[in-house]
Amino acid sequence: MKVNGKHYRSIWFNHDSGHDTGHVQIIDQRWLPHEFRVVDLTNREAFVTAIRDMWVRGAPLIGATAAYGMAVQMALDPSDLSIEETHEILHSTRPTAINLRWALDDMRAHLAPLPVAKRAAAALARAAEICDEDVECNRQIGLHGLEIIKEIAAGKPKGEPVRILTHCNAGWLATVDWGTATSPIYHAMEAQIPLHVWVDETRPRNQGAQLTAWEMVSHNVPHSLIVDNAGGHLMQHGQVDLVIVGTDRTTANGDVCNKIGTYLKALAAHDNGVPFYVALPSPTIDWSVRDGLTMIPIEERDGHEVTHVQGKLADGTVTRVQISPDGTGAGNPAFDVTPARLVTGLITERGICAASAEGLGAMFSERANF
Ligand code: MRU
Repeated sequence: MKVNGKHYRSIWFNHDSGHDTGHVQIIDQRWLPHEFRVVDLTNREAFVTAIRDMWVRGAPLIGATAAYGMAVQMALDPSDLSIEETHEILHSTRPTAINLRWALDDMRAHLAPLPVAKRAAAALARAAEICDEDVECNRQIGLHGLEIIKEIAAGKPKGEPVRILTHCNAGWLATVDWGTATSPIYHAMEAQIPLHVWVDETRPRNQGAQLTAWEMVSHNVPHSLIVDNAGGHLMQHGQVDLVIVGTDRTTANGDVCNKIGTYLKALAAHDNGVPFYVALPSPTIDWSVRDGLTMIPIEERDGHEVTHVQGKLADGTVTRVQISPDGTGAGNPAFDVTPARLVTGLITERGICAASAEGLGAMFSERANF
């Protein structure tokens, strides 16, 4: 997607750097929307910090970053031990998003059979492929999701916008490009379908207010920022035609783990007959898990994310302020699980399917007998 007229991905390899060990660059998302900072990741520790401390975030981008982390480490030490250690260290950074494990397993499977001398180049090539695959998956998700938006638009008076609610940031910043939940939105914009996006602020880290809203501004998508608690009210009053969210891990039976608060939106959507879709590339499916409620580890993050908020002062300085009394502790589960029964459909790169073992099994038949 474009930033000030220049095309960016959320992660890339800088071929011009002249670095032997590779020069991966990312957008440091902690400073958006107020500052656009690009940083270099040049060793394994930098990749660990970037994922753990959410310089990059969003399930597909976490996976892509880990793949490049393995590649950079292979240039420094391509031994078997190094592959295993890097897999373990990077895997421990964030527990919920399954794309992290998927990408690391994929890299290990590619690298382990190779002679040590070939691993560095092969790792870099495979990490780049993983990024390209993510971009193409998300483009396809957008084309499939566009059909849903078209159908809703066709049932409305001409010129009336399709109103889409989204939670967290499942935009291009959460992936390598396009985004998952936002890809249908960008495709609908290109098809000149009138749209209005309700952007949930998404406390505690405000990925909606800070990242999704920034993406919408950059792409001229009509949108309004709403507090997390407004979605139910808007649905009750017929102000939401469709909900599209992303996911950090979807089980083989269609339970959807996503940013905390997604479940409440799904309940409100169900109660009000609003279609609730989840957009996901196939590496976000955890075929080894059937019960999302009991079997997905939910990341518990630092309470400071709840007791403090980050924003920009009048003089332009970006700072954090405390919003709760001294001495108040905080609980901070970062994700929740929406049971499959509340999900209207899953928008994948292969098409739209029911959120069920049967739906996913028919769409990905090679995985059906796991
Ligand atoms: O904690 P985050 O910001 O990594 O959480 C991200 C989300 O929950 C996204 O909605 C999810 O990863 C889907 S991204 C395409």
